[in-house]
Amino acid sequence: MFKKNILCIGAGYVGGPTMAVIARHCPEYQVVVVDINHDRIMRWNSDNLPIFEPGLDEIVSAVRGRNLFFRTDVDEQIDGADIIFVSVNTPTKTFGLGAGKAADLQFWEITARQILKNSSKPKIVVEKSTLPVRTAAAIGRILDSNEKKIHFEIVSNPEFLAEGSAIRDLETPDRVLIGARETDSGQAALKEVVDIYKHWVPEEKILTSSVWSSELSKLVANAFLAQRVSSINSISALCEKTNADIEEVAKAVGMDSRIGPKFLKAGLGFGGSCFKKDILNLTYIAENYGLSEVARYWEQVLEINSYQQRRFVDIIIKQMFNTIVGKKIAIFGFAFKADTGDTRESPAINVCRGLLDEKAQLAIHDPKALDGAAKDLEEYAGQFILESDPYSAASKAHAIVIATDWSQFVSLDYARIFETMEKPAFIFDGRNLLDHRKLYQIGFSVHRIGRPPLSKL
Ligand code: UDX
Ligand code: ADP
Repeated sequence: MFKKNILCIGAGYVGGPTMAVIARHCPEYQVVVVDINHDRIMRWNSDNLPIFEPGLDEIVSAVRGRNLFFRTDVDEQIDGADIIFVSVNTPTKTFGLGAGKAADLQFWEITARQILKNSSKPKIVVEKSTLPVRTAAAIGRILDSNEKKIHFEIVSNPEFLAEGSAIRDLETPDRVLIGARETDSGQAALKEVVDIYKHWVPEEKILTSSVWSSELSKLVANAFLAQRVSSINSISALCEKTNADIEEVAKAVGMDSRIGPKFLKAGLGFGGSCFKKDILNLTYIAENYGLSEVARYWEQVLEINSYQQRRFVDIIIKQMFNTIVGKKIAIFGFAFKADTGDTRESPAINVCRGLLDEKAQLAIHDPKALDGAAKDLEEYAGQFILESDPYSAASKAHAIVIATDWSQFVSLDYARIFETMEKPAFIFDGRNLLDHRKLYQIGFSVHRIGRPPLSKL
């Protein structure tokens, strides 16, 4: 018999790793993860997990079948649970009111109604997915609308994990944030959730707040991170005009302890499932409350992000003699960042589309994200190939574009690659990843972000 039963609805990027870590540290709790997606659950129960995350395989194989279970019978699992984490997807709405900005809450609402329908006793419902501020109130109204008079307490516990470092972020978080109502039942629920994390997180890192502050903090943390990336990228454009070097500027600025060195790496802009969605959410909320200046301020973070990608494509075309029609270009990296197979909102998508619209022929190589690339570019089928070998991708290409900061790209044999390419051979390093001087010595014409080009042309 387990001391407590935890259920997580939604076995995605957030739900899967989070529950695996909870199960590992809380052996006396049963942790069940359910999803309507049968394939996903089948993979969680196999050796081929549905997401790639360093360290995840080891944890799952240690606890799966002990106190961690992956299942598809969502309805049946609900009533046995004391605490239900909800980590279903909340994409940006693509239709109707708030299309392109507001969060689409249909999956959340369906889940709330499922919980209500299948419950016969009180439960704590924890918001794990990123949600617009005040969602808890709306969800609370659905759950409270029951004739069974069951009490549901809603707690907000946003996830701050980043892909590629999810396990580290879960094991040693900067902070865990838990928001609950001020009422006695709210505070009792808060304690229950705090007790889970206390198994491995030092108490001073567990922050408690109101539900609204917790919901808003999640959006704001992501907006601030994205804002830093856009800030440095906006300056990279200025560096290119003035011959200043963005790496030097970022270092000088980041050494001010009030600013700090992280998230100041110029590149092709941010991707991933959170930043854009959360800023759209923030601007939508601001607009709804009549704060249009606030909304415009944050929209600009997104505008600079798209601008950075458009700018990069323009540089490639211009440097390659204003035409790339029929030219083979090797794309190194398609994931939105290194160490993940995720391509959601990847800058590589816009860069590739820009090049494909100019009728280039792309050979795309990525260690983990080729399936995603095929889907994201399906309307261009026939204009690109997927290559599992970087050397084949670059063979006979006119240019290499570095679109993701995979560390393995640094140690490739670029002298060998150079030999097999058309001349002049270009490298456009969208992540300022490679050793540019060395590449220049080999014979490449090297273009980078926010730094003077190294080119004989
Ligand atoms: C982010 C947040 O970090 C995490 O706390 C939140 O829970 C979810 O969103 P994630 O999207 O996984 O995590 O990736 P992150 O490491 O934050 O990077 C986001 C994007 O910004 C990537 O495309 C990355 O390449 C880019 N980036 C990051 C830069 O271009 N420069 C930087 O200096 C840092
Ligand atoms: P995140 O990055 O927030 O974890 P994902 O899209 O990776 O988002 O995962 C969300 C998961 O939630 C998906 O696997 C989806 O099938 C699942 N899901 C959505 N609605 C429901 C539901 N009503 N019941 C169970 N699972 C659901």
